[in-house]
Amino acid sequence: MKTQQLPWYMNAMFYEVHIRAFCDSTGDGNGDIPGLISKLDYIKQLGIDCIWILPMFSSPLKDDGYDIADYYNIHPDYGTIDDFKQLVNEAHHRGLKIISDLVLNHTSDQHPWFQKSRSEADSKYRDYYVWSHTDDKYSDARIIFLDTEKSNWSYDDQAGMYYWHRFYSSQPDLNYDNPDVIEEMQQVMKFWLDMGIDGFRADAVPYLIQREGTNCENLPETHQILKGFRAFMNDHYEGKILLAEANQWPEDVREYFGDGDEFHMGFHFPVMPRIFMAIRKGDASPIHWIMSKTPDIPDNTQWCTFLRNHDELTLEMVTEEERQWMWEEYAPDPRMRLNLGIRRRLAPLLDNDHQKILLANALLYSLPGAPIIYYGDEIGMGDNIWLPDRNGVRTPMQWDDSPNAGFSTANQNELYAPVITTGAYSYKRLNVSAGLSDPNSLLHKMRHLVEVRKTHPIFASGNYKFLAVDQTECLVILREYQGQKVICILNLSDKNQMITLNLPDDRDKILIDIVHNSKFRHIKSDQTTIATDAYEFLWLKISN
Ligand code: NOJ
Repeated sequence: MKTQQLPWYMNAMFYEVHIRAFCDSTGDGNGDIPGLISKLDYIKQLGIDCIWILPMFSSPLKDDGYDIADYYNIHPDYGTIDDFKQLVNEAHHRGLKIISDLVLNHTSDQHPWFQKSRSEADSKYRDYYVWSHTDDKYSDARIIFLDTEKSNWSYDDQAGMYYWHRFYSSQPDLNYDNPDVIEEMQQVMKFWLDMGIDGFRADAVPYLIQREGTNCENLPETHQILKGFRAFMNDHYEGKILLAEANQWPEDVREYFGDGDEFHMGFHFPVMPRIFMAIRKGDASPIHWIMSKTPDIPDNTQWCTFLRNHDELTLEMVTEEERQWMWEEYAPDPRMRLNLGIRRRLAPLLDNDHQKILLANALLYSLPGAPIIYYGDEIGMGDNIWLPDRNGVRTPMQWDDSPNAGFSTANQNELYAPVITTGAYSYKRLNVSAGLSDPNSLLHKMRHLVEVRKTHPIFASGNYKFLAVDQTECLVILREYQGQKVICILNLSDKNQMITLNLPDDRDKILIDIVHNSKFRHIKSDQTTIATDAYEFLWLKISN
């Protein structure tokens, strides 16, 4: 396949934005769509191709918008449908794509479907949700929000029955055994796709169907339904994508790509905690291991990789022992822990050490997949672990050192969440404007790294092979595509390391450092030894 024929998402950089947290244009203390529009140039200049926005629909916000009360409306805090149309147009005008969340699995309990379902036994809506006279069905299904929910069933007084929910009890699960529900969701997809958005990040896809005697995850019937959604997209919306949120082992996520007839993209969850393990241990083995468990995926499908997102850093896809280790190392204060994860941002996790933050990003970009940057992580924003739930990693974007970090002109106490005002992460010193004016800032280095990655499509489509696997202080990855080769060397340790590479086929060729755009070394013999500083990384192209 030729590089230029690759579908756009294969070599794309994604940026995750929470509208509420990004920029407030009205001064009411909440970020909104016009605010996001005013910052599109910033996102474009970061080198982004596609923005993923968290749910922007009408919602009582019991789960920050993942509890939808009306799929056909925008939350009034964020603006109007017309604002949204303008956002799509303005994004497209700049060559940016935009995808939104599609929350398939559940609605808010405030959704009219659920209101009718619980109160009108004879209406067609009763069968839109999963009801039972007892709370003991599907007992092999785990509880996901362990810190708050005791059961996946809740009793509803109006219905006199229990309803099924995999997340908060205010998020009843839809009944995907009912074809009407599938049809409703297709209409929702159609509504937003017709408005011009470029696809969906499909939330919580493993849980659509329940069957007794299973853990109710990744069931064949669930895949059938998802394939139906994909067929609908193929028929009417070419070039638009479905991205799967399935927090599962790679072999299980593999199923969501089907034969290229289900999802275009899927998050690679389990590699993420192992990047943090590898950097803290100075040991590449966790990455070697998880990639050895990662199956090939069909042509024209792509992994989506990330370091952090709006949720806790999930530790579901690690062993019990690894989870304890991660908690001890990265969440020493119990307040930092939530469910099976860690509610902290990237910079605080990596000791606000820019070299380590860049190393983590470079590691992510060296692997196959299309990476996502979580808003604010490009400037090294901090978190506020004292806020409830996962809100501590969703604080206002820090634009400049003016009041409220330039996020909003509201009174400080009217902000949806406080800006970070103390210590190294205070907006007074850490903000976009400061980053732009300092040539050595993390922001400038991130922009450069993104640019280098994107100008070398080998990272997106090339094969990969680990080299020097017995010298585990460094992760060494050979990327290869159509006769081109790039060697990525990432020193994970806090010491200088010498790495010896066997490159008999490349004798007499030249290594070009593509990050600094300079000649690195002439390969004079079959073996070449490369010195790296602590936490340094090199991307070396083999050239004639
Ligand atoms: C996954 C989302 O990322 C998370 O924020 C949300 O709480 C659950 N799905 C439920 O929708």
